[in-house]
Amino acid sequence: MYTLGIETSCDETSCAILKDCTVLSNVTISSLKEHRKYGGVVPEIATRAHLKSIDKVLMGALSTAGVSLDRIDLVAVTCKPGLIGSLVVGVNFAKALSLSLKKPLIGVNHLHAHIFAPFLNNEEKLKFPFLGLIVSGGHSEIYYVKDFDKIKLLGQTQDDACGEVFDKIAKAYSLGYPGGPVIDRLFDARHKDCFKFKCGRKGLNLSFSGIKTALIYKKMEFEKKNLFDRNVKIKLLSSFQAASIEAIVSAILEAKTKYKLKVVACGGGVLANSYLRKRLKESESRGVRFLIPSIGYTADNAAMVAGLGFYLYNKKKQKSSLRLEAQAN
Ligand code: KG4
Ligand code: ZN
Repeated sequence: MYTLGIETSCDETSCAILKDCTVLSNVTISSLKEHRKYGGVVPEIATRAHLKSIDKVLMGALSTAGVSLDRIDLVAVTCKPGLIGSLVVGVNFAKALSLSLKKPLIGVNHLHAHIFAPFLNNEEKLKFPFLGLIVSGGHSEIYYVKDFDKIKLLGQTQDDACGEVFDKIAKAYSLGYPGGPVIDRLFDARHKDCFKFKCGRKGLNLSFSGIKTALIYKKMEFEKKNLFDRNVKIKLLSSFQAASIEAIVSAILEAKTKYKLKVVACGGGVLANSYLRKRLKESESRGVRFLIPSIGYTADNAAMVAGLGFYLYNKKKQKSSLRLEAQAN
């Protein structure tokens, strides 16, 4: 069965073709560069960019997969949550395709799709229940996954999302946008304990706004004394990266003990972080397995949307009507 996936919830326009759970193509055009000078995603620019790119991305996905449009059996699209203008472009595009091809349509929750990402090309690993961990620019959440239509939120950030804090700190340190990859590249493990930063954590809930403020104040303190140089910057940012990642790792390990589950499916842009990937793998000695998507499927992509759409349609007999609507929250 061929599934076409469409993802437009934020600044990535993405289309993917899957044959069952195997990814044949996953083509993405990001409007990231257009947002750079504003230090974050500008919704109107993202919407216009989706309109401009979506045809091209679909054609690219079909030709890479070597599949013609009339062979598509199912159209899956992210319908929530996300930027409303961006979601509307994808949802309407998907509805038009479903109607003209006379093929079923399924609306997919973007967050649940992130949790599905580790099972792409790997569906045999799918054994319920397990824990879900999403760490992205918009979310930092822990879930109990009884099935993909029975997902319960166990804990979340009480303020900023983890990726958002990487981005805001990078902006304050004049490192550009997005901040996560830059801070990751500057990270030096030898300096990870130079400063004693701490994230807030109460059970499975996290808080990142305090550490963000601490990083900004520390920079100002060093600047006042004329001591803010590259070396100090690397020490501050390495200590920040380690502290924020350790908070996530300790929260998910607490969830594993509390709910007696041995598998965690992970997803979201911050899963590209080298220190997070390393710490999760090291933590497997505590009797838990972390299923981490390959780098191409950590950030927003249509393959995870198609994969979850295929699963819900095939196993759970779910589909959406043409009244499907985009929902921001
Ligand atoms: O999942 P995603 O593509 O979009 C959302 O749904 O939010 O995640 C984007 C976020 C950004 O905040 C970006 O800075 C962060 O993921 N990110 C990273 C890394 N690569 C991307 N954060 C830390 N380390 C990285 N290597
Ligand atoms: Zn996302």
